[in-house]
Amino acid sequence: MALRKIVCIEDELLRKKSRPVEKFDEKLHKLLDDMAETMYEANGAGLAAPQVAVLRRIVVMDCGDGLIEMINPQILETEGEQDGPEGCLSVPGRRGMVKRPMKVRAKFQDRNGEWYEIEAEELLARCIMHETDHLDGRLYVDIMSREIFEDEEEPEAGEEQK
Ligand code: NI
Repeated sequence: MALRKIVCIEDELLRKKSRPVEKFDEKLHKLLDDMAETMYEANGAGLAAPQVAVLRRIVVMDCGDGLIEMINPQILETEGEQDGPEGCLSVPGRRGMVKRPMKVRAKFQDRNGEWYEIEAEELLARCIMHETDHLDGRLYVDIMSREIFEDEEEPEAGEEQK
């Protein structure tokens, strides 16, 4: 495994649409391992492939219940709303309040190409929305209601860098 360099907000790669993964091979597995290592090293809760300069539809996340790898994720349904703080490893030193669905149903492939469905809520739902946004060139700063400033009191528990 190896750490990959995380690209930052100024990089136009973060604004591009990522392409679906078609080959579930060794190269993909290596990338997934590197992405997980890079995410954990940076103390992040999620990382999308464009953040390591690979324009493919791949995300890894860990919201406290273990590593989840999603290849070609698709949001099938959303329900409700939550408002809370978000950060992003590609937007260092900043955080903002972002409204997201409270519940998300999504399908995705695993590293071997097998399809799965997941129903997530609260923090994991937020994380899935944040990471899949990356695959379409969207960043949380595009949709945040406001910036959270350093000297501010914590708006809400459960804040994570994604
Ligand atoms: Ni992010």
